[in-house]
Amino acid sequence: MKQKLIFTNLVGEAVDTLITELGNPQVAVVADTNTAQFVLPIMQKASKAVADATVITIKAGDANKNLDELTALWRHLSEMEATRKTVVVNLGGGVVSDLAGFAAATYKRGIRCINVPTTLLAAVDAAVGGKTGVNFNGLKNQIGAFSEPEAAIISTIFFNTLPEQELLSGYAEMLKHGLLESPQMLAKLLAYSPVYPVFNSEALLPLLKDSVMVKANIVDKDLKESSLRKALNLGHTVGHAIEAFAIKHQSPVAHGYAVAWGLVTELVLSHMVLDFPVETLRSFAEYVHTNYGAFPLTCKDYPELIAAMRQDKKNATPDAINFTLLAAVGEPKIDCTATIEQIEAALDIYRDLMHLD
Ligand code: GLY
Repeated sequence: MKQKLIFTNLVGEAVDTLITELGNPQVAVVADTNTAQFVLPIMQKASKAVADATVITIKAGDANKNLDELTALWRHLSEMEATRKTVVVNLGGGVVSDLAGFAAATYKRGIRCINVPTTLLAAVDAAVGGKTGVNFNGLKNQIGAFSEPEAAIISTIFFNTLPEQELLSGYAEMLKHGLLESPQMLAKLLAYSPVYPVFNSEALLPLLKDSVMVKANIVDKDLKESSLRKALNLGHTVGHAIEAFAIKHQSPVAHGYAVAWGLVTELVLSHMVLDFPVETLRSFAEYVHTNYGAFPLTCKDYPELIAAMRQDKKNATPDAINFTLLAAVGEPKIDCTATIEQIEAALDIYRDLMHLD
């Protein structure tokens, strides 16, 4: 992997060391309107490179991951006379690393960047693996590039002030990595839950490191998602459908919550299609129910959900949809198919496991 991964809570020192290693270039820090207020002042005290950098602030929120903000970012880089040697430090969640990562990938045909994720979701997913881009024409991530940053500095120091919902949302992607990796990793993750007052950001760092390495090892083998990287879609076909359904019905849910419910449903499908062990399915579902609650569904909602699943996929047929499924924990199988009857049955079982009527 081209991208260097640094796991430390001494983030300021890590930024300064990296900037020195990169030859003390001109630095632009990209923050959003939230991180500019709450994180930037901390980083300006902890890092000389950040204190001396030009700060570019973008609007927070996924709705602003668009061409207008991208153009504004390019304009800032141009006005500060950024060169091919300039380094962009992305200080924020996935919107910042996606948008500023794409701006860096395209400005003067590509300049270097460093990701400093400030949310658990970004640390475990967006900051690692080089997917960058913007939403376009009403569709998510339609314009973008695979472009790995020089480095990601993964820490847990910014998480102490995150709402519990944000922590749980990121933790769902860690659960996904545990399912993809091994029974041992999954057991450790199910023994912990990132909720207050138990939440302790120091205790999370080793778990986060193991989790990020699962993604890093996959990306290392298949950056452009031609095969193995599709395993990272586990839980996301149903998860994205739940997210879209919830938005349409004016009750949006956090991404990771939809992924957690999507994982339960796709483990049910894994049991049906690949004989995934039922005991593991039950204990995973119980963890999700305890920590994430249940997304309410009735059988009347199935056609709309299944239509959303189909939209998420390029090669669905009228009778079946493709998924990444698991034969067992640590044994992902990409490009599996489930029939519409199987999906409906899996949604019935999801409702039972989540104690819904
Ligand atoms: N979020 C999944 C991936 O980066 O491939």
